[in-house]
Amino acid sequence: MSSTAENEEKINPNDNDCLDTLNLVDRAIVSRGSTRAFLSTPVERRLIKQILSVAAWAPSGTNMQPWKVTILAGKPRQRLSDAICEAFFSGDNGDERSWKYYPDEFFEPYKARRRACGIGLYQTLGIAKGETEKMRQQRARNYKFFDAPVGMIFSVHNDLEIGSWMDLGMFMQNIMVSARGHGLHTCAQAAFSDYHNIIREHLGIPDNETVVCGMAIGYADPKQEVNKYRPEREPLSSFANFEFYDEEAAV
Ligand SMILES: Cc1cc2nc3c(=O)[nH]c(=O)nc-3n(C[C@H](O)[C@H](O)[C@H](O)COP(=O)(O)O)c2cc1C
Repeated sequence: MSSTAENEEKINPNDNDCLDTLNLVDRAIVSRGSTRAFLSTPVERRLIKQILSVAAWAPSGTNMQPWKVTILAGKPRQRLSDAICEAFFSGDNGDERSWKYYPDEFFEPYKARRRACGIGLYQTLGIAKGETEKMRQQRARNYKFFDAPVGMIFSVHNDLEIGSWMDLGMFMQNIMVSARGHGLHTCAQAAFSDYHNIIREHLGIPDNETVVCGMAIGYADPKQEVNKYRPEREPLSSFANFEFYDEEAAV
């Protein structure tokens, strides 16, 4: 392996010298960052189809391939964004969901990481503590797909289990990594699932499917500060246990 194996705890996506040490796949993974400001430059339908065809090579339990995705661009994308924004700004906090992303009570170490992420994002956006209206406007940007020309809505059949949600996550990650290979950026957006009834109505998603997530995809606006925000990662030692990795057996 290259020197990256030795340096894996020090990967810094903002350091070009570091990115240059990575192979193409690793570079695509590390250079993916949640992008929250896009240019209006359109993305060809052909390219989106290619990315999705590649992403479908994600593994899935017994090859069930449980993912479903609806792709939006142009007027239908705009109509969905308008409808959700209208609901959001009229005080509709969204529909009850059959699933939860987060626990009711946050606990350590996740609580601190989540807090740091929120603070970091708002600091980058110049939003101070208590500026609730600005926070609301930022939340609403989610529903405009952060101005990306293409949006995606992911769903899975209601009767599938948590394993299929794992599979969907792998499919989504493949899309995000493949997008990097084409110079595109993305942002996964669970925010959309809060308005699953509006989405269902606009996109004809049947009642037996759960709206899980959205995704913005397009060309990043390099001038927007928000896109420079890259939350840190914990060091390898905090999540990987090498206690049972016998060095001698590995030689
Ligand atoms: C499934 C999923 C849903 C997400 N939903 C949102 C969202 O609704 N809005 C948003 O701004 N970011 C969303 N994010 C982005 C996370 O905040 C982001 O991945 C995390 O802070 C790490 O930053 P990075 O993606 O730039 O590395 C989501 C990420 C994932 C994986």
